[in-house]
Amino acid sequence: MTKTQKKIPENTTLPLIIDGRKILLCNANGTHYAIENNCSHQDTPLERGRIRGNFICCPLHGVRFNLETGEPMGQLTKKAIQTYPIEEKGDLLTINILNI
Ligand code: FES
Repeated sequence: MTKTQKKIPENTTLPLIIDGRKILLCNANGTHYAIENNCSHQDTPLERGRIRGNFICCPLHGVRFNLETGEPMGQLTKKAIQTYPIEEKGDLLTINILNI
């Protein structure tokens, strides 16, 4: 399944539900990313997390996740979160959750 969505402002996030999955759209310094909206440490939504560079910080205990790979940094969790491919066309994004 894919979803078409307008771009969002820099360094903001937007929670989405696509095909029943919780997805977080992030704009990190002009680049959009789509990630699983759930911290792999204690199942907390990441939507209030701060974006720094191409990382998002979990609002609860501060684990940083790479927005490109989903890999965490630090000792609290070693489990990556899911990331989803995005295509950009003009002001529109297509988030692709096919086969993931
Ligand atoms: S719940 Fe996210 S770092 Fe603990």
